Amino acid sequence: MGDSLTVTDNRNGKTYEIPIRDGAINAFDLRQIKTSPDDFGLMSYDPAYKNTASCKSRITYIDGDQGILRYRGYPIEQLAESMTYLECAQLLLEGELPAKDSYDKFAHEVTYHTFVHENVKRFMHGFRYDAHPMSMFISAVAALSSFYPEAAEVGDAEVRRRQIIRLIAKVPTLAAFAYRHTQGLPYVYPSNELSYTGNFLAMVFKMSESRYVPNPTLERAFDVLFILHADHEQNCSTSTMRQVGSSRVDPYTSLAAAAGALYGPLHGGANAEVLYMLEKIGRKENVPDFIRKVKSKEAMLMGFGHRVYRNYDPRARIIKKLAHEVFQVTGMNPLLDIALELERIALEEDYFVQRKLYPNVDFYSGLIYQAMRFPTEFFPVLFAIGRTVGWLAQWEEMVTDDEQKIARPRQLYLGHDVRDFKPFAQRG
Ligand code: ACO
Repeated sequence: MGDSLTVTDNRNGKTYEIPIRDGAINAFDLRQIKTSPDDFGLMSYDPAYKNTASCKSRITYIDGDQGILRYRGYPIEQLAESMTYLECAQLLLEGELPAKDSYDKFAHEVTYHTFVHENVKRFMHGFRYDAHPMSMFISAVAALSSFYPEAAEVGDAEVRRRQIIRLIAKVPTLAAFAYRHTQGLPYVYPSNELSYTGNFLAMVFKMSESRYVPNPTLERAFDVLFILHADHEQNCSTSTMRQVGSSRVDPYTSLAAAAGALYGPLHGGANAEVLYMLEKIGRKENVPDFIRKVKSKEAMLMGFGHRVYRNYDPRARIIKKLAHEVFQVTGMNPLLDIALELERIALEEDYFVQRKLYPNVDFYSGLIYQAMRFPTEFFPVLFAIGRTVGWLAQWEEMVTDDEQKIARPRQLYLGHDVRDFKPFAQRG
């Protein structure tokens, strides 16, 4: 029999042999299961894609039960410990750890694409003083499409690569401009002599000093944070990137859509929600009462739970450790005590144990961002900078995959059968 599934249709007793490849059946093989020649054939129903693989990928591996995350086969713990974000970006995009000269070339290319057209400043000015920075970021990324019309040539590998470099290079600039706008501060141009993360810190925090020298701990912390956020296989925003990109629209438009998906409070917006939650809890003594509310479904414990991880999110473990290093520079974040107490109590409670709810990447990251003096609304933008390369690596893989077509799910239509239109006078 080999690797296959024998399916008996109890409606008519017919039996089918469905091959199993790479641990999955091809949903299209179900279409042969019919009760009559004009029957459409069987479909699978999977709202929220809980058990449907939409692609074959060689980029990121997650074992949610074991709490394992690997990029291109390398454990996230080793990558976060040892490399820069740009090195990680190249690994994700190209599949192998880059040789030194190849890395230098890549880093040089990214560094020299960090500037944006002067008009970007003008449309940034058009936003209200209290505009949400994620809204500005998403709009600015979408607007880049109008500056690079060649990006529409998604079938051309060279053109794709240029846009990938541009996007990785320019998202920190757009993010920093959005930040400066909300603060009423002048925009700071990129400093090409600084590292990717050092330059980002400069564009955000530089004031009157002639030369901004980034704090090495914070510069390194951003490398780690961006690496941890760089990719996470087919999550909501990445699936959006692939889905929108499957229409063959340019990558700026797809990436703006992906960033839109990330903005939601159940996805990348959760890091901000964690902070609002901790501030609302206010004191360690209030934690048991908050947990009671979570158990009675009056509240959600933001930063906990994950669709894939049914174990401690390995990224949360690394971020928790990183937080202590950052706090040595910035001073302690007083909300850390509440977070630690929440985690301690939650991990002992049956409600969380039975549902396998553990801290996710967003639980501790917000505490670091806040300690660095970023406003809470800005947290999802920081997530988006790191995730940009993952979206792009997945987009490139999708565009070059012969099995992919324009994404177009089916539905189970449960509405009315055909009926005749009635004018107002005949309606009840
Ligand atoms: N707090 C309280 N209860 C929770 C939480 C939580 N954070 N997460 C899940 N649950 C409960 C659900 O209410 C459900 O309970 P039930 O069985 O009594 O109905 C059960 O655990 C299973 O949860 P689902 O909703 O089925 O889990 P799903 O996989 O659909 O959702 C998600 C995953 C969206 C991440 C969810 O855990 C959540 O909303 N967490 C809080 C938001 C958050 O931190 N998001 C960031 C995720 S990481 C990222 O996107 C980068």
